[in-house]
Amino acid sequence: MAIPVDEGRFLSMLMKIMNPKRTLEVGVFTGYSLLSTALALPNESQITAIDIDREAYEVGLPYIQKAGMENKIKFIQADAISVLNEMLNNDMQPEFDFAFVDADKPNYKHYHEQLLKLVKIGGVIAYDNTLWFGLVAREEDEVPEHLRTVRTVIMEFNKLISSDPRLEISQVSVGDGVTLCRRLY
Ligand SMILES: C[S@@+](CC[C@H](N)C(=O)[O-])C[C@H]1O[C@@H](n2cnc3c(N)ncnc32)[C@H](O)[C@@H]1O
Repeated sequence: MAIPVDEGRFLSMLMKIMNPKRTLEVGVFTGYSLLSTALALPNESQITAIDIDREAYEVGLPYIQKAGMENKIKFIQADAISVLNEMLNNDMQPEFDFAFVDADKPNYKHYHEQLLKLVKIGGVIAYDNTLWFGLVAREEDEVPEHLRTVRTVIMEFNKLISSDPRLEISQVSVGDGVTLCRRLY
C-alpha cells in the first residue's frame, strides 16, 4: 500500500523546494510517505498525520524514531473526515502549506472541500493514485472488475479538480499518479 520509491523521492524533492512549515498527511499506513516527507522538512516543521489504523503506523514507528523524525510528527488515529471536520468546527484558519492525501478514495471529493479551507492560499494539496494503474485511460471493458469502482471514483475526481477554478493543477506521472493542486484563492 505504500507509495513506490520514485514517488517518495519526488515528495522529498517537492518538500525541499517548498520548505513548508506545517503539513498534513491523510493515509499513513506504515509511514513510508510520512518518513520521506519528514526527512526533507526543516527541523521546526510539523506534520499532522491521520490514519484510522494505528497498528500499521506502529510497524513503521521504530524506523521513524531511528531516523530522529518522531518530534516532527503528530499522529492522530481517527477517521480523517472527522478530524478535518473537527479542525473546521474549531475555526482553525488555513495553516497548512502542504497536504498529501492517500486514503479512502471515495472520500477524495470531501477531503478536497475540507482541505481548501485548511490549506493556505498558495499552498499545495497532492492527491495520490490519480492514474489508478493507468486504468483511467482505458476502456471500461479492459479494466479488471475489482478495480472498476475506484477507477470511476478517481475519474470523476480528476474531472472535478480539473475544472475547479480555485486551483492550478499538474498531474505528475510518478508512482500511481500524483496530482498537485495549488490553491489560488
Ligand atoms: C494507501 S495507504 C497509505 C500509504 C502511505 N501514504 C504510504 O505511502 O506509506 C492508505 C491508508 O489509509 C488509511 N485509511 C483508510 N480509510 C481511512 C479513513 N477514513 N481515515 C483515515 N485513514 C484511512 C488506511 O488505514 C491505510 O493505512
